[in-house]
Amino acid sequence: MVAPMTERDRRGFLKVSGVAGFGLLGCGGNPAGGTPSPDAGATTDTGAVDAPGPEATPDGGGATPWWLQGNYGPVADELEATSLEVLGALPPELDGVYLRNGPNPRSGRSGHWFVGDGMLHGVRLQGGRALWYRNRYLQTSLYRGMPFGRSGGFPDVRDTAGNTALALHAGRLLALYEASLPLEVRADLSTVGLYDFAGMLEGPMSAHPKSDPATGELFFHGYGVVPPYVKVHRVDAQGRHQRVTNVMTRGATMVHEFQLTPRWMVVLDLPIVFDLGTLARSPLPYRWRDDYPARVGLVPREGDGSARWFDIEPCYIFHTFNAFEEGERVVLEGCRHPRLWVDGPDLLASEPMPHRWTLDLSTGRAQEQRLTDQLAEFPQVASAVRGRPHRYGYALNVGRSPDGVHLGDARAYLKHDRVMDRWTRHDLGEGRQPDEPTFVPRPGGRSEDDGWIFGFVYDRAGDRSELVVLDAMNFTAPAVARVRLPRRVPHGFHGLWVPAMA
Ligand SMILES: [Fe+2]
Repeated sequence: MVAPMTERDRRGFLKVSGVAGFGLLGCGGNPAGGTPSPDAGATTDTGAVDAPGPEATPDGGGATPWWLQGNYGPVADELEATSLEVLGALPPELDGVYLRNGPNPRSGRSGHWFVGDGMLHGVRLQGGRALWYRNRYLQTSLYRGMPFGRSGGFPDVRDTAGNTALALHAGRLLALYEASLPLEVRADLSTVGLYDFAGMLEGPMSAHPKSDPATGELFFHGYGVVPPYVKVHRVDAQGRHQRVTNVMTRGATMVHEFQLTPRWMVVLDLPIVFDLGTLARSPLPYRWRDDYPARVGLVPREGDGSARWFDIEPCYIFHTFNAFEEGERVVLEGCRHPRLWVDGPDLLASEPMPHRWTLDLSTGRAQEQRLTDQLAEFPQVASAVRGRPHRYGYALNVGRSPDGVHLGDARAYLKHDRVMDRWTRHDLGEGRQPDEPTFVPRPGGRSEDDGWIFGFVYDRAGDRSELVVLDAMNFTAPAVARVRLPRRVPHGFHGLWVPAMA
């Protein structure tokens, strides 16, 4: 068991990083200063931005780190294209924008893949046509050259790279990070400004909120380095913040993912924990601790934050497919990293494989089962079955590289039929690297997998990307459509289909 931070640790970290549990030092913005300007109501100016130079390194010297090489590296400008070539036929009922979020450090430098300035890439589809592609920086205060924090010059919860994920709730579109308030954006990729749920959110909102398809509520967590470490927030279907529940993990652990069932909030308490010792090498003060046990907590949605904790074998879980109830058991499925960040958060070298954890409330024990020996990350299910027993899961089939596992070295998507216990694979082809798959339901669809898989796929030979649309029911069939984009889309994190508002 790891004791909470000492008071000295707390003071030190709070001094450099506000209340959030995730550092921003070394962000691709300009923490040293710049011309102050308002952080709300901004829209993006289109035009060239600083191009990364060949000397780009996190500290101006040494070898270029992997997250600035190849298609991990940032693109140099903001573009818009309206004449997009489409191979195949886009489903005419698709009317909306597919958005992707990811890091794109404006300076060409960043101390870690996770902290570069956020950039959105979007493709607008309507009536069987691809109307436009554009990419835009998120207009964060850091991107615009403001110093960290508004008082004292240190990072605080208003300092966001915004680069990790997107969420749509009650008509509001949010770009999410790990350590900060969300940033409201529009479907045209412009930035509105920081959003704090009408003053109700004072701490961070994580990148992986979950909505309940039965009630329309949104649940999300934030975490920090002082007890109670994790706060879970509930927002009603109309977007009004309703409640916060404090959850005590054993220590200051990094909690990237969160799950929700009809009765439970599922909280992960895993052995990547806060450690100031990593700051000399990385902006993220977290690393693996062998002496920090792994466990999963079931927190009643209506309770006081008390949890039923289930010990599991040590691992880290960035992302999960889903969680659901089976009588007195709760099942959690996700991608298990056996061990990583042992010396700090510099490499993602691990071998993530889909696993199932069955938490038995009557015995208090957890049972773990590996679902396949294929490497996979960025798992998801249809949002309509969130918290319920799902039949189909989707994930990125990750590849191996000589220096470890890189999410950008994928070449296939995976589909899991949980009922038949069958995995199918869609190979994008040699030299074609997909990012996270996004399931987009067909309007009025008749089955759980009636819809499409969307993903940006980087073509190494042509140094440009496509939006690929697969028929999720005919998963191994050739893509139904490929939208050729005028540029490459760097390997990023998470995407979202945003239907056009009626
Ligand atoms: Fe994530």
